[in-house]
Amino acid sequence: MPTSLISTRNLRARACAQLPPVPSSARWINTASRSAPEDTRFLGHEFTCLFSKSPRCKMNKSTFNHSNEHQDDSVSSKREHAAIVFSLKNEVGNLVKALKLFQEHHISLLHIESRKSRRRNSELEVFVDCDSERETLNKIIQLLRKQTNIITMDLPDKQSTPEEDISEEPWFPKKISDLDKCANRVLMYGSDLDADHPGFKDSVYRKRRKYFADLAKNYKHGDPIPHVEFTEEEVMTWGVVFRELNKLYPTHACREYLHNLPLLTQHCGYREDNIPQLEDVSRFLKEQTGFTIRPVAGYLSPRDFLAGLAFRVFHCTQYIRHSSHPLYTPEPDTCHELLGHVPLLAEPSFAQFSQELGLASLGASDDAVQKLATCYFFTVEFGLCKQEDQLRAYGAGLLSSISELQHALSGRAKILPFDPKVTCKQECLITTFQEVYFMSESFEEAKDRMREFAKTTRRPFTVRYNPYTQSVCVLRDMPSINNVVEELRHELDIVGDALQRLNKYTRV
Ligand SMILES: [Fe+2]
Repeated sequence: MPTSLISTRNLRARACAQLPPVPSSARWINTASRSAPEDTRFLGHEFTCLFSKSPRCKMNKSTFNHSNEHQDDSVSSKREHAAIVFSLKNEVGNLVKALKLFQEHHISLLHIESRKSRRRNSELEVFVDCDSERETLNKIIQLLRKQTNIITMDLPDKQSTPEEDISEEPWFPKKISDLDKCANRVLMYGSDLDADHPGFKDSVYRKRRKYFADLAKNYKHGDPIPHVEFTEEEVMTWGVVFRELNKLYPTHACREYLHNLPLLTQHCGYREDNIPQLEDVSRFLKEQTGFTIRPVAGYLSPRDFLAGLAFRVFHCTQYIRHSSHPLYTPEPDTCHELLGHVPLLAEPSFAQFSQELGLASLGASDDAVQKLATCYFFTVEFGLCKQEDQLRAYGAGLLSSISELQHALSGRAKILPFDPKVTCKQECLITTFQEVYFMSESFEEAKDRMREFAKTTRRPFTVRYNPYTQSVCVLRDMPSINNVVEELRHELDIVGDALQRLNKYTRV
């Protein structure tokens, strides 16, 4: 391997999650006839880019509609003014297709701007300023969700907070098989690679990626995950990653990780010369924590990815990074999943924490989902904990990246206590090390904090997972709440009975 590939930057596996990376702010390019807003002033009512909460990422509604004031006067009072930012694959026809939705619903577009996504070269982010009746706006938002990834939206006429933006609650899976409806909504990668992807010019690799993408696309809930015959080259690539990371784990990984890794060697064939099969790993996890694996072709939206966690389903890629860069990948691959995520998913308290993040996301607003996704990023992907007075990593993005793992524990990184209220505002960085890492004393503590934070999310209901039916109960009225109370009475009855027996037989 050329030395240049072992630079700090290249060693960092940027594959952080199936969640698409969080974009930084970027300049917008006007695609409409209006002049570009680069010289406009960010004054007046302000909204913040959903994926980025740092001050430099703030956008301002008035930045984009300053020349529409006269048009607004003529608009019926029943009409709503909305600003929506969405991202889509930068391919011919995609933008037209999205904009056609507005045309078909007779929504006036007052201003359109686009910018190249700073997350992925292959993506375009589009800002649309429009007005229409609220009902039509809600409809268009639902339709846009099917074609694009909505990054943020703002309905300033209502003076609403982002969490109140949508009167119609977003669809969410109610039972585990419903994940079939959203697991294939891959936002990026899959079998398409960016021009700067190490495998872009390798036709054999691209063909192989299509094979993995098709496996994931054809997968349905309940199917066994297809067995893959990995090539010699793939095994060698995995071997390099496995060997190098295993040198660091004893001094860098958390206790729970170190406990579970040997079990995975024993039960799932975690070895330098063998790439474990997802089906074996899924079966192992099911026995440990009830988590199962579902193959996925590439990045899912934060909403779809978190929804899987609600059902203790972890969406996992099955392909291997390109062999030319064994210690670098611009996307999650099976090395990241198997070495970064799986050992922790076998830990009951961590599994519970992950599921609660997922449950909190179901039916939540886009803004709330993004806050949860940011908390996921700084815990499940880049989380640190303190054990026996030593800092250890439990985040998969760290545990699958040699250079960032070393950096995070070097004593030079900035570390703050995990507090969802603070963490959810932190900018997630994709091409560099994180500016800050968040530390929890334990998974229990992280879970308690997330639980309290989730309660502050505006959602007219709560959900409860039923492990017997692998479905979620939506608690939004007294009958549904009474059902839970009945179940709890029965549980308490069992506890009471156990205590009585303990008392009786201990005396004897
Ligand atoms: Fe990940």
